[in-house]
Amino acid sequence: MRNIVIRFWAILMILTGCSAHQKEYRIGVSQCLDDAWRQKMNAEMERELLLHPEMTLSHRIAYGSNERQCAQIDSFIAERVDLLIVSPNVAEEVKPAVTRAYRAGIPVIVADRRVSGEEWTAFIGGDNYQVGRLMADWILSVQAEQKKALQVLEVAGLPGSTPATLRHQGMLERLAEVDGVQPKIESVMGAWYKEDAYRVVRDYLGTHAHVDVIVAHNDLMAIGAAEAVRDSKGYGEGSVRIMGVDGIRLGLQAIVDGTIECSATYSSRGDMIIETASRILAKQPFVRDTVLETMLIDANIASPMLVQIQARLHDLETLHIVQLQSESRWQQIQYGRTMLIASLVLVGVFFFLALGFLIYSQRKINKEIKRDILPQLEEVQEAIQLNHKDVAFGERLKQIVEDHLSDPNLNVEFLGRQLALSRTQIFRRVKTITGKGPLDYIRERRLIRADELLRTTDMTIQQVALELCFSSPGYFTKCYKEQFGHLPSQR
Ligand code: FRU
Repeated sequence: MRNIVIRFWAILMILTGCSAHQKEYRIGVSQCLDDAWRQKMNAEMERELLLHPEMTLSHRIAYGSNERQCAQIDSFIAERVDLLIVSPNVAEEVKPAVTRAYRAGIPVIVADRRVSGEEWTAFIGGDNYQVGRLMADWILSVQAEQKKALQVLEVAGLPGSTPATLRHQGMLERLAEVDGVQPKIESVMGAWYKEDAYRVVRDYLGTHAHVDVIVAHNDLMAIGAAEAVRDSKGYGEGSVRIMGVDGIRLGLQAIVDGTIECSATYSSRGDMIIETASRILAKQPFVRDTVLETMLIDANIASPMLVQIQARLHDLETLHIVQLQSESRWQQIQYGRTMLIASLVLVGVFFFLALGFLIYSQRKINKEIKRDILPQLEEVQEAIQLNHKDVAFGERLKQIVEDHLSDPNLNVEFLGRQLALSRTQIFRRVKTITGKGPLDYIRERRLIRADELLRTTDMTIQQVALELCFSSPGYFTKCYKEQFGHLPSQR
């Protein structure tokens, strides 16, 4: 019975897949902003997740607020996520929350904007200092072309954020390395948004001396700046050469369209972030510090890059369709499995009910057998045994009587001695077996022998009566008549 239960349970476990259940990981993703570059990063992560069904992402966006981002990270800590991916707004402002997560034992992958110190598990991000140097190189190349000191407007990202600081620093340090005429650099803050960039650039162009070149810290701000140039008095479309950063699809398109002149790659590598997360969670070796390289994107490479992105997007769509199809197939399988489990449970319940009923009836029958049939059986067996004993006793009795028919001592006491029974027992048992008292039985046997002798020998009635111990021939004749219904002389 126990075996059946264990087997039934094991089958159920296998079917529900509980026994081989893979561990599932919940990953908190804390993004500082929700612009096109970050959407690309999220899409890359989601695509990579197709290869890691054990992980699910939970996204939270701080929309440029350090306090909000800290609170969101704290809520991830409270929810005990298995891993945290964080792209900080102003890294040093968000660092305390990142440290809290790390100290709470949650592995932390810092993406894009590095936090100082060592309390994080892995870093994956671009080389912002190098991006700044690339901006400087491009300014220098334009300056060399135009053979004059350029008036440069830098549209910087959010003040205090690592990329804004490092890109600015990289640019200035690279410019300082070259001898000769230095371009004149002025900076405005665009806070990473196209609209902000449009506004600050328009203000600047309306109130300051002529600008030859604009370097924006991202493509969106470069496009915003291009629109500001287009709309500003004394400028017009394409009158200022503009560089962006990121190489997102919009930026590449703007280069192909001639809205801006170039950009710098700034990879988001969401795929690499997920791959690293999976390695950390699986306790496999991983690269702790990954700095992604950057390079200039000009009109020559912008269009093949765009084609590649378009193809990847198409792949993504196809993948998405395949995913949807496999999801619906999965649902069908799940449905089938649920039905199978339900039927199995039903069969199981039915099986146990039937088993219960069987055990119940068995017990009932057993009780009845014990109460009614067994005693009867015992009686019958006893009777049979008694019968056997009686038959044996009867035979011995008959033998003793037959052997002593001519013995005048053949009486109840004699039989008692021979059969080792008391007088009363002899009476009771002889009566049971023969239906007569012992003396009647002995007399009957003597009369039968007498009849035999009269028929088979020449003995007279007197001789026979004497031989069989009758007290007189008259008494013998009387008994004989009683026994056989006629006189011995009439045989
Ligand atoms: C997006 C963004 C990018 C930029 C990066 C720097 O939020 O502003 O445009 O290159 O962040 O961290």
